[in-house]
Amino acid sequence: MVVQIFDNAKLVSRACATLIAAQVIQKPDSVLGLATGSSPLETYRKLIKMHDKGLVDFSAVKSFNLDEYIGIPKDNPCSYHQFMKDNLFQYVEFAQTHIPDGNVSSLEEEGLRYDRLIEAVGGIDLQLLGIGHNGHIGFNEPDEKFSSGTQVVHLAESTIQANRRFFDSEKDVPSMAISMGIGTIMSAKKIVLIAMGEDKAEAIKGTVEGEITPWLPASILQLHNNVTLLCDRGAASKLSGK
Ligand code: GLP
Repeated sequence: MVVQIFDNAKLVSRACATLIAAQVIQKPDSVLGLATGSSPLETYRKLIKMHDKGLVDFSAVKSFNLDEYIGIPKDNPCSYHQFMKDNLFQYVEFAQTHIPDGNVSSLEEEGLRYDRLIEAVGGIDLQLLGIGHNGHIGFNEPDEKFSSGTQVVHLAESTIQANRRFFDSEKDVPSMAISMGIGTIMSAKKIVLIAMGEDKAEAIKGTVEGEITPWLPASILQLHNNVTLLCDRGAASKLSGK
């Protein structure tokens, strides 16, 4: 794992946007794995700016998002469909954009369909990841074993609390989601993980230096041969080798 530490979150986002833009410039029909949450917001803003200046063209790019809540409509302001529209897709034209559908009758079939689709387009070239406080990636929560494909997940209480800030009240926060599995994420050719803030320091320490365990899902990234972690000083503050 390549670890790059920056003085602040803005610089993390700048580096992240640069890596994504470089991927698309090198391979205009790249398949990108995209993430939601507050961490990638500034990266998306920077990509929109680069796109507007004509520096990078996404019109041949296909994207696959990591996850979506179950049980809220796509046009709910808190859905990840709406998040992606608001923060990227309304500004930048992609060839195709895909997000798991949390409103279908067979969620199991949806998971299989999603993984088949990723495989059919040749796999994900670059997967962008944020990280939860408990080390979750996508919505793969700490558990007894690593998940494989895209599937239904039950959100940890701490994740529900963390995501509470986006919803009107706690009872509105969904307790289930459909998420790419750890196997799906690990199949990506390149992974870029971003983390900002001291509240992520414990999760980042476990990810980089900890035991590889499904109780800290991001620790599996130690076994991937092309991972770049971009973090600020806060998120890096517990790394022993910094
Ligand atoms: C959610 C998302 C994750 C994201 C995490 C951290 O749980 N499913 O993909 O990485 O939140 O979010 P934030 O970047 O807001 O801290």
